[in-house]
Amino acid sequence: MNLFQIAEFFRFYRAATTKYQLHSPFVFELACAVLEDERWFYAFRDVEEIRQKMLKSDVVLHVEDYGSGGGSSQSAVGAGQDPLAATKKRSVRSIARRAGSSAGQGQMLFRLATHLQPHTMLELGTSVGIGAMYLASAVREARFVSLEGSSDTAHVARMNLDWLGLAKNTEVREGPFEETLTKALQDLQDLDFAFFDGNHRPEPTLHYFEECLAFAHEKTVFVFDDMHWSEGMAEAWEQIKNHSRVTLTLDFFELSLAFVDPDFREKQHFKILPARWKPWRFF
Ligand SMILES: C[S@@+](CC[C@H](N)C(=O)[O-])C[C@H]1O[C@@H](n2cnc3c(N)ncnc32)[C@H](O)[C@@H]1O
Repeated sequence: MNLFQIAEFFRFYRAATTKYQLHSPFVFELACAVLEDERWFYAFRDVEEIRQKMLKSDVVLHVEDYGSGGGSSQSAVGAGQDPLAATKKRSVRSIARRAGSSAGQGQMLFRLATHLQPHTMLELGTSVGIGAMYLASAVREARFVSLEGSSDTAHVARMNLDWLGLAKNTEVREGPFEETLTKALQDLQDLDFAFFDGNHRPEPTLHYFEECLAFAHEKTVFVFDDMHWSEGMAEAWEQIKNHSRVTLTLDFFELSLAFVDPDFREKQHFKILPARWKPWRFF
């Protein structure tokens, strides 16, 4: 965590509620499913075994630098530019260690998708496929398109998904989001679940969100990683919360969710922690 994230976490912690303060059945059930369900699934073991293998791998990839790691970093590859101009050599081990979802976050994604049962899923930023494996194993019948700018990384993700028998309904598409997002949305048509975990800069995040909104329906969920990463991303999250189409947001700190369902007549925003983090707040 950087210093900004630590400060953000304290602010978040002070304001956060737990399941005991939630009155909406939809929000209560979703929060319980994502934060309180302690069941262990075989899929967790399978994905974590692949992570362990990658953590021992010395295979070196040529990775296009999209500056994905942090909120302030600038993408070295822009739409239409030659990606090889900004290629770095990185081992699978270092990508798996730094870029992939943590086990905790992957399992939150798995429980969220299991609870919501989307028919279509989109991920912006596949990396080596850790989040994708969790999501695809949660809802095996869903059509899942994951976008990744770096060819070598996308190749490793495909191999991982294939290894777990998840390749049938899952596609990893290569290229900058600026070139792949529109087509992916047109192909999916109805967007049930969108996970934004690629370019962690505010303007592109808002731009991708707007583009996805055109394909959203009342049950669509938008899931964002790292909205507390930097001041810019925290401001982008405020803009998403205030967006005229957004009716409900649930912030779990690691993942932030936005819904556009018009049935939530009054806009509501929740910051929610597992009950064990505030054990004295049981009513
Ligand atoms: C944090 S990693 C994704 C981790 C993955 N979602 C997971 O859960 O394991 C971000 C990825 O997004 C890709 N990326 C970032 N900006 C991009 C862009 N503009 N176009 C295409 N890919 C991009 C990077 O190459 C990187 O592999």
